[in-house]
Amino acid sequence: MKIKLKTGWPTRTPVYLALTLLYLLLFSCSKRQAAEMKPEPPEKPTSTVTYANFTQALFQTKCAGCHAPGRGAAAIWTFNGLSSVTSSQTRIKQAVLVNKSMPRGGSLSAAELKSLQEWFDNNMPE
Ligand code: HEC
Repeated sequence: MKIKLKTGWPTRTPVYLALTLLYLLLFSCSKRQAAEMKPEPPEKPTSTVTYANFTQALFQTKCAGCHAPGRGAAAIWTFNGLSSVTSSQTRIKQAVLVNKSMPRGGSLSAAELKSLQEWFDNNMPE
């Protein structure tokens, strides 16, 4: 009798295992079905170029060396954040996109020029 009581739990183990497997099976199925029922949202439109995601870094790396406060060309145009760009947008566009005289001694890639143009065209979003 005592032996039977002791073996009571271990003999049930396969039942628990089977239930666990069944649960996992059902769970994975319902998850798959849920994914099938919920179609992916439509593709997001390509993200817009913003000051935060692109232009700030561009001005920082390509212009600040000469145009940051205290630098050589700061007297001509000082790069000091977004407002320093918006307030001088006409001159910047002329120098970078039209004359391509800036960045002095360097150049922007075609992709950078395209993104910068797009940013100006979208009215310089933050
Ligand atoms: C190597 C230094 C250097 C770098 C880098 C540089 N500039 Fe300049 N920038 C100058 C100098 C010097 C002048 C003044 C002489 C001239 O116009 O060539 C100037 C002039 C300007 C002007 C005034 C143009 C005008 O006559 O109205 C603007 C605007 C300007 N830079 C914007 C930029 C921008 C935007 C960048 C980055 C894409 C940049 N610069 C990169 C040195 C630099």
